[in-house]
Amino acid sequence: MDSVILRAKNLVKDFTKGNERISVVKGVSLDISQGDCIAIMGSSGAGKSTLLHLLGTLEKPTQGELFYHENRNQNLWNLSDESLSQFRNQNLGFVFQFHYLLPEFSALENVMMPALIGGHDSSWAEKRARELIDFVGLKHRVNHRPGELSGGEQQRVAIARSVMLKPKLLLGDELTGNLDSDNSKKVVDLILELNKNFGIAVLLVTHDHEVASRMKRVLTMKDGKIISS
Ligand SMILES: Nc1ncnc2c1ncn2[C@@H]1O[C@H](COP(=O)(O)OP(=O)(O)O)[C@@H](O)[C@H]1O
Ligand SMILES: [Mg+2]
Repeated sequence: MDSVILRAKNLVKDFTKGNERISVVKGVSLDISQGDCIAIMGSSGAGKSTLLHLLGTLEKPTQGELFYHENRNQNLWNLSDESLSQFRNQNLGFVFQFHYLLPEFSALENVMMPALIGGHDSSWAEKRARELIDFVGLKHRVNHRPGELSGGEQQRVAIARSVMLKPKLLLGDELTGNLDSDNSKKVVDLILELNKNFGIAVLLVTHDHEVASRMKRVLTMKDGKIISS
């Protein structure tokens, strides 16, 4: 698995509602390799967000294993919660449909946040955050709070924040879901640049054909399974 960054083996996720058990992810195996740029499409309820949470170690599967290339024999689920959150902080970036920026902080402070939480040097963090804000085209908005930014600008700040600590893999869930087509295009342009210029592997779940068609590989999820590649 030399070029494989993340390997998922037979992931299964069941939820229990009352005394009913529903199976949401039904045995998904997937390799994400360096340079990959993957869309997972599928209609609402197919299990896309649940799968993304499993791949991002935000949720634990009912069954299945997840391996990371630097530690290929270690199933990530065997790590302690603390090691797992450290793993996420160091290796993965996330962008969701809602930006989850902190309203009391400026764009700059929001982008710096993962570094500050991770205990990195604050002058290094500020320098890198300024570069990233410039990279996402928001140099003139660096001191604005999220409430003073448009939806597209907020999402670009969230993207800058997601790559603050140089993740190997960026996971996005309907990240253009709240944007008009112009802003959606800008956000996807950025994602593609991150993939191309910084070599960050990308996996986006989306039900937007326009977004998916710009990725290098499109997988389809239906009823908890990946049915095509
Ligand atoms: N925490 C949960 N508890 C119970 N059911 C859930 C939970 N999360 C998701 N589901 C169910 O799993 C199915 C798939 O959800 P989701 O992964 O969000 O699909 P998608 O992102 O493709 O729309 C839905 O029927 C949803 O109601
Ligand atoms: Mg979803």
